Amino acid sequence: MAPGVAAFVAASAGNPHSAVVARPATRVDTGERCAQRCRRRALDTATIAAVTGQSTTRRAPWRTRLSGPYAPATARRATGIALFLQWFIVLTGATVRLTGSGLGCPNWPTCTKTRAVPELKAHELIEFLNRMTTTPTLIAALVSMWICWRLAGPRRRDLRIGSSLVVFGVLVQAALGALTVILELPPEIVSVHYLVSILLISAAVFTWHASGFDRPIGLVRGAAGRTRQLAGVLMLLALLAVIVAGVLTTASGPHSGSAGTGEVVDRFGIFQLAVTLHARGAYAFLVLVVALTSWRARRGPALRDLGILLVLVALQIALGEVQYRNGLPWGVVLAHVVNAALLWLVASRVAIDAAYEPTAGPTSARTAPPTHDEAVAAR
Ligand code: HEM
Repeated sequence: MAPGVAAFVAASAGNPHSAVVARPATRVDTGERCAQRCRRRALDTATIAAVTGQSTTRRAPWRTRLSGPYAPATARRATGIALFLQWFIVLTGATVRLTGSGLGCPNWPTCTKTRAVPELKAHELIEFLNRMTTTPTLIAALVSMWICWRLAGPRRRDLRIGSSLVVFGVLVQAALGALTVILELPPEIVSVHYLVSILLISAAVFTWHASGFDRPIGLVRGAAGRTRQLAGVLMLLALLAVIVAGVLTTASGPHSGSAGTGEVVDRFGIFQLAVTLHARGAYAFLVLVVALTSWRARRGPALRDLGILLVLVALQIALGEVQYRNGLPWGVVLAHVVNAALLWLVASRVAIDAAYEPTAGPTSARTAPPTHDEAVAAR
């Protein structure tokens, strides 16, 4: 027997954890089962280190690390990246429309019927880069889902549902993006494409918010909880109404996305009506947020996010007025579209934070699988 292995076997004899290698006779809860799996993996790592003679402080092999269980901090990072990309793809998508690059690549999935990738022309590149942004967005959503399903500690139904919804939504968006190109930018599809992005941002915010707790989150119970949920839902519905009116304004406005290729794209033709409703709705929403902020102020802290929301609404209204009064310059419109997505993100966070709280129950057993040194120290 190699000296390293002999030393390892000797060290394992009398090891209080060696019992966990054998299958436990009684049923244990998920947290305990997971902790046992972690320890088994740490011992596997030690065996490899002993056989190869390499340092025992090495981390577990990548395959072991990839299969989890993952620390809550890893889930927090992964869901945060997935959320950021949901917002970022709104920016790249709006850039395509506002630079008139919508049919820069007139075919799907290849750029043209005869060419897979774009030539070095601005409209083609902008359109294609937006398509390419789908790849990291989908990868980030899939990674976040994988981590949420293989998290250390108690089973997190909230994280599993939230992260799976995000993956599903990205696939729906990919299909809508393809339809947008194939049907040559119909305003109905472009509008739905934006609205689905907005809903996806909410799913990603929910997952990211839930990943900040070491136990599943559930709706706040009791009368106070119901009031907070109602306030959150009303606020989101009011903002959604403003956003839908904005999307209708855009669908009637001059930025159809085809300016670069000169194609004529149908418009809804209700610009003045839509913009009037949209702007009035925006001011009403500002009043609502001011009222909510002062209501929350009388009931204690948790005001930071509402304060950020207030600033973003004021900025959004200023951008809206500037663009409307200056013939809709595309740079300002882009800022308006992207800030709308950010505003929705923060509003979702405020509503989810008010409506949900951590449930009673087991917390995450560990923050990370133990390293070999930890396993040895525990003996
Ligand atoms: C809470 C405040 C506001 C929100 C959340 C908001 C949101 C939006 C959204 C989501 C769009 C559609 C983006 C797209 O489909 O790509 C839009 C478009 C538009 N908004 Fe607002 N908006 C707000 C305030 C205002 C105000 C006060 C005005 C002033 C008149 C305004 C003027 C416009 C115009 C003219 C468009 C069409 C731009 C285009 O042609 O693409 N918005 N807004």
